[in-house]
Amino acid sequence: MDVHNRIEVMHGVNLDQLGRRDPVHYGGLTFTELELRIGRFAHELGLIPRYFQTNHEGEFVEHLHNLDGLADGIVVNPGAWTHYSYAIRDALELTGLPAVEVHLSDVDSREPFRRQSVIRDLCVTTVSGRGADGYRQALERLRDELSASSSAAYKARTGAPAA
Ligand code: DQA
Repeated sequence: MDVHNRIEVMHGVNLDQLGRRDPVHYGGLTFTELELRIGRFAHELGLIPRYFQTNHEGEFVEHLHNLDGLADGIVVNPGAWTHYSYAIRDALELTGLPAVEVHLSDVDSREPFRRQSVIRDLCVTTVSGRGADGYRQALERLRDELSASSSAAYKARTGAPAA
């Protein structure tokens, strides 16, 4: 059976400033520490992560445009763009890849503007308010999603159940 385990871990605006941002909402890890933690989770789950962060919306959009053939799924925390960037929403939709939305903080219990996510309905699920551990949950969900879809594709191709 084909293996679908390449995960693009995408962080948007201001997430590179973790460590300087309010620890009440975002915890105490620096961004580098967070990526190391995500890498550990991914390897424990048999996934191959690749990382991207930018503070430039157009770069984020173009990175999504260029994922074709390079990733099987996406873990995405667009930061504040979550709440209003239809450009990122459209580019995420274009990838056609399963995505899980993650937020370190509990966006639904903060300011009203954070309750709106313009990508939520495109995503398999949203994990929010669980800090760094939320990324483990997101990766687990993506792994399950990818193995279910590759089993279904294998079955469709061969008529046989996946091993
Ligand atoms: C965030 C939540 C957003 O509202 C905020 O703008 C961020 C980070 C989170 O991870 O909790 O920059 O996405």
